[in-house]
Amino acid sequence: MIPTIKEIFSLKAEGQAVTVRGWIRTKRQTKSAVFLEVNDGSCFANIQCVFDQGSPAFQAIAPELEKATTGASASIEGTLVPSPATGQKLEVSARSIQIIGEAPADTYPLQKKAHSLEFLREQAHLRPRTNTFGAVARVRNRMAFAVHQFFQERGFQYVHTPLITASDAEGAGAMFQVTTLDLQKIAQSGTVDYEKDFFGKPAYLTVSGQLNVETYCQAMNRVYTFGPAFRAENSNTTRHLAEFWMIEPEIAFATLEDDIELAKSFITQLVKTALEDCAEDLAFFDARIQPGLVADLQKVVAGSFYRVTYTEAIDALLKSGQEFEFKPYWGCDLQSEHEKFLTEKVVGGPLVVTDYPKDIKAFYMKQNDDGKTVAAMDILVPRFGEIIGGSEREWRLDLLEKRIKDLGLDSNNYWWYIDLRRYGSTPHAGFGLGFERLLLYITGMTNIRDVIPFPRAPKLAGF
Ligand code: 4AD
Ligand code: MG
Repeated sequence: MIPTIKEIFSLKAEGQAVTVRGWIRTKRQTKSAVFLEVNDGSCFANIQCVFDQGSPAFQAIAPELEKATTGASASIEGTLVPSPATGQKLEVSARSIQIIGEAPADTYPLQKKAHSLEFLREQAHLRPRTNTFGAVARVRNRMAFAVHQFFQERGFQYVHTPLITASDAEGAGAMFQVTTLDLQKIAQSGTVDYEKDFFGKPAYLTVSGQLNVETYCQAMNRVYTFGPAFRAENSNTTRHLAEFWMIEPEIAFATLEDDIELAKSFITQLVKTALEDCAEDLAFFDARIQPGLVADLQKVVAGSFYRVTYTEAIDALLKSGQEFEFKPYWGCDLQSEHEKFLTEKVVGGPLVVTDYPKDIKAFYMKQNDDGKTVAAMDILVPRFGEIIGGSEREWRLDLLEKRIKDLGLDSNNYWWYIDLRRYGSTPHAGFGLGFERLLLYITGMTNIRDVIPFPRAPKLAGF
C-alpha cells in the first residue's frame, strides 16, 4: 500500500519522493504552474501538488493534466518540498500524473462551489468526498473506537444482541415487522396465518438491545452492546432516524447512582477523545458549522453535569415565564423545546434529569417508593435535548409481572426476561446512548441525517 496523505504529512520529510493517490478537489492554473488539491479522506487537509509549466517534462504530461478535473482520481509522483502557501508545511513538486478515473466536468455532480446539505443528502454516494462528510466520517470512526476503548478499559464485555426479536423492548409499539409472508396474498385472503411465517409467529426489528443484554449482565456483571436499532415512529425530525446505532451498557449489583456516574464519565471521555484526536476536523466544524463548538466541548470536559429531578424540572419550566408551544405540566413527557430551554437557558450545559413519572417511561424501570415515579435518568444537552436514556431496572419479580400486566403487554413475549427475576435476580441498571445524537453533539451538525453514512427516515428518497 502506498502511504495515505495523512501518513505523508506525518511520516515523510522534505526532499523525499512520494506517490500521492486520491481524488482531485480543485485545479488552479497560473502562467507558471498548475496546482491540484488532492484529498484521500485520511485527514482533513488536502495535499497540494504543483506542476511547473516551465519544466522540460511539462509538455508530455499536459494532456493528462487536462483530464485532471474536480472529482477525478489520480496518481501523482513527485518530491516533497516546503510549501509557501499558508496552512500547510509541505507540498508536492510533481513530476508526473496519471488519471485513474475521470470525472467529466459537465456531469460530475459535486463541482467546486459549496453545496447545500439538502442537495448532498440526495448524493449520499458522493457526499463522503466533501469536507463536511469526510470530517463527520472520521469523527464517527474515532468515536466508535472510543466507545469500545472506554468499556474494554473498565472490564465490560461486548455482547452481540439480536436484531430480530419478538419482544418490544420499549413497550411503545413502534416496530418494523419482519416477515416472509406475501402481503399481497394476505390482502386478498383477509387473514394472516403466522404459523406459515418464517418464525411461526410475529417478529420484528429490535428497538433496543437492552432486554437481551440484561441476560448477560445477570451472568457477567459489566456488559455492553453497540449495534443498530430500528424505530418505526413517524418522527420526521432532525433528531430521529428509523435506523440508528445505540450503545447500551448494563451493570449488575448497581443503582441509579452508579448508572449516572458511568454515563457522565462515558460522555466526558468521548468528548475528551474527540478534542484530542479529531482536532483538525473539530476546528472545521467550529469554523464552518457551529461557532463556539470547541469551547463548549472543552467546558464539558472541565465541568460538572447539573442534575435535577423531573419534578424540579417541571417546576423550573412553569416558573420560567417562557411561552412553550406545548404547555408543561407534571406528568407530561418533556418535549424537545423544554429540554432545549433547560439545557440552554437554565443550566447552559448537559443536564441529568431523574425520577420521571412511571406513566411516561418503559415497563422495565424500577418503581420508586412514592408509587408515582421510576428510578430513571435522561441526560439532556443543548441544541437538541435527550442524548441518553437509562434507568435502574425493576428486578423484583412480583412488581415486574404486575407492571407488564397493568400495561396490557403480553407476558408470553417476555417470559425469559421475567425468568431473570425468578433466578438469582440482582439490582441492576443501564442506559442507552444514541450514537448519532452523540455525533450531533460533538460535530455541531444540526440534522441527524448528516451524521450517519446512509440515513433511513420516513419517505426518504435516495435508496
Ligand atoms: O431513551 P431510549 O428509547 O432508551 C432505550 O432504548 C433503552 N433501552 C436504553 C437503555 O436503558 N439501555 O433510547 C436511548 C437513546 C436516546 O436517548 C437517543 O439518544 C437515542 O437512543 N434514540 C434515537 N436516536 C436516533 N433516532 C431515534 N429514532 C432514536 N430513538 C432513541
Ligand atoms: Mg428516551
